[in-house]
Amino acid sequence: MNETALTVRQTARPHGFPTAGHFTFVESTLPGPVPGSALVENLYWSVDPYHREMMDDVPGGFALGAPLEGRTIGRVVASRTPRLTEGEIVLHRQGWRTHAVVTPEEVRRLPRFEGVPLTAYLSVLGGTGLTAYVGLTRIARLQKGEDLFVSAAAGGVGTATGRFARLLGAGRLVGSAGSAAKAGHLTREVGYDAAFDYHDGPAAALLAEAAPDGVDVFVDNVGGEQLAAAVGALREFGRIVRIGTISQYNTPDAPPPRFDYADLVEKSLRMEGFLVSNYRDVQEELYEFAVPHLQSGRLAPDETVVDGFEHIVDAFLGMLRGENTGKIIVRGSSEQP
Ligand SMILES: NC(=O)c1ccc[n+]([C@@H]2O[C@H](COP(=O)([O-])OP(=O)(O)OC[C@H]3O[C@@H](n4cnc5c(N)ncnc54)[C@H](OP(=O)(O)O)[C@@H]3O)[C@@H](O)[C@H]2O)c1
Repeated sequence: MNETALTVRQTARPHGFPTAGHFTFVESTLPGPVPGSALVENLYWSVDPYHREMMDDVPGGFALGAPLEGRTIGRVVASRTPRLTEGEIVLHRQGWRTHAVVTPEEVRRLPRFEGVPLTAYLSVLGGTGLTAYVGLTRIARLQKGEDLFVSAAAGGVGTATGRFARLLGAGRLVGSAGSAAKAGHLTREVGYDAAFDYHDGPAAALLAEAAPDGVDVFVDNVGGEQLAAAVGALREFGRIVRIGTISQYNTPDAPPPRFDYADLVEKSLRMEGFLVSNYRDVQEELYEFAVPHLQSGRLAPDETVVDGFEHIVDAFLGMLRGENTGKIIVRGSSEQP
């Protein structure tokens, strides 16, 4: 185990796209657990689009100069509580740092399923997969044979949405992503029937070409022009699942999308957003649904793994630029369980 700890802190608020200069790495001696707590060496970190929102001066956002927060999986390396045992693997929210002192209440023990890698608890079985599963089953209430359009389809939520939708019996799956290579990956590997690069033209025209007969459900990770296009492409009783608005996180002054509000009435559309944090009770159901498929190989976790905690800021910025395929995860250099 390392004798020093590293934490990442935010040093300034970005206007537009953040850079490495908005962060700093701070080195300190290893924290010691006080009675009732344990020291965890973090092994895998999640960096997420919502961290970009937290970089702004918003309620609940990151405080400047303080260690950042985020989901992480670690191993207990020293304990002063009988409720946490050395060697245990736990998930907690003191990410963006190599080590954390946690109480038993602050961690979640991870069930271990034969043949399922630990990274899956940050990707397809974690908040990312839960978002996709809730979006399809609770918000869209997907029916067998229904056709979907998914934006940011090659990302963590987007790939999980495509794979889950296929397993749930969806009809035609159309996805959008930020490059031709990603669009090709979606149709070759993830199970999408058609995919386009949203840079190639107006979203409405690209969507009309990929889904000429329209769709029943739009799973929206992006907002903006693609949301407006989807309103036009939805069939009667269509549903818009509002998951995220990543097209606006770095351009808050961009005009909101314009679409025909009359479509919502005339096609009896439903638009509903949600926060996955309000659906934690669905976690066990996600395990029951997804784990057998992971074990049989019918479901693959889509992940981009970046090696080395020292690259966590680069991984975060790269994800915002679209350099990831599937869920972006940072892996520490210590021996992995
Ligand atoms: N509601 C909830 O509780 C909840 C939970 C988790 C995530 N989310 C949201 O879900 C969305 C996806 O999250 P994720 O964790 O799975 O991230 P992700 O999709 O793995 O990564 C973000 C992706 O967004 C795309 N992107 C970046 N800028 C864009 C732009 N201007 N226009 C269109 N696409 C852009 C990039 O892919 P391209 O190469 O395709 O551009 C990038 O790979 C985000 O909006 C996030 O905030 C919401």
